[in-house]
Amino acid sequence: MSYLLASLRNPVRTATLASTTTACAEQFVGDIGLSSAKRVVELGAGSGSVTSVLRRQLPTEAELLAVEVSPILAKQLRRRCAGLGVDVIHGSAFQLPELLAERGMDNVDHVVSTLPWTMLSAQQQRDLLGTIRDVLDPTGTFSTLLAAHRFDSKSGRLFGRLLREQFDEVRPGRVFWPNLPPLRPYHCSPYGDPPRN
Ligand SMILES: C[S@@+](CC[C@H](N)C(=O)[O-])C[C@H]1O[C@@H](n2cnc3c(N)ncnc32)[C@H](O)[C@@H]1O
Repeated sequence: MSYLLASLRNPVRTATLASTTTACAEQFVGDIGLSSAKRVVELGAGSGSVTSVLRRQLPTEAELLAVEVSPILAKQLRRRCAGLGVDVIHGSAFQLPELLAERGMDNVDHVVSTLPWTMLSAQQQRDLLGTIRDVLDPTGTFSTLLAAHRFDSKSGRLFGRLLREQFDEVRPGRVFWPNLPPLRPYHCSPYGDPPRN
């Protein structure tokens, strides 16, 4: 229901009517390699399906920031994550450096995203990927999901090119077909091979 309401307000930005399934989120997050993570940021947290899995798989002492631009979804996320040690931020991924600075952080170990990349303009994709790379620790990773039906769109192809421009290593994962829409994970590293489990 929250996604329907958020979509009625802003369909392009919300880009979905349903959350990522737990099985898909577990496969995606499980491939990141979070065992020694200290600081993780999730962009486009929505109502928290990936957030919950991140929190479960992260070490207890690791900080998790979950950024969501829709006020409806941020409110639901805050309720869902109450007491779980998630810093829920109602804000935009484009404010990432400021959001980190406000919390005394200049870099993070992992950025995880389910943002609707192909709905962004070329300049927005380029700027945001550059910002993400800049806030990552040199040994950090950026992981994102992309809807399978968008791979071959102009914007999807551009996103693939920009990922390879901004990151030394880009490791596409297997498409998770049971999710609607099916989603492909990408795990990227600014300097070298991203860790594998
Ligand atoms: C495809 S949904 C994914 C939601 C949730 N993480 C999931 O996997 O079910 C994309 C989410 O990104 C959010 N979003 C879009 N643009 C954003 C931005 N600039 N900053 C933060 N969140 C954004 C949308 O409001 C929406 O909740």
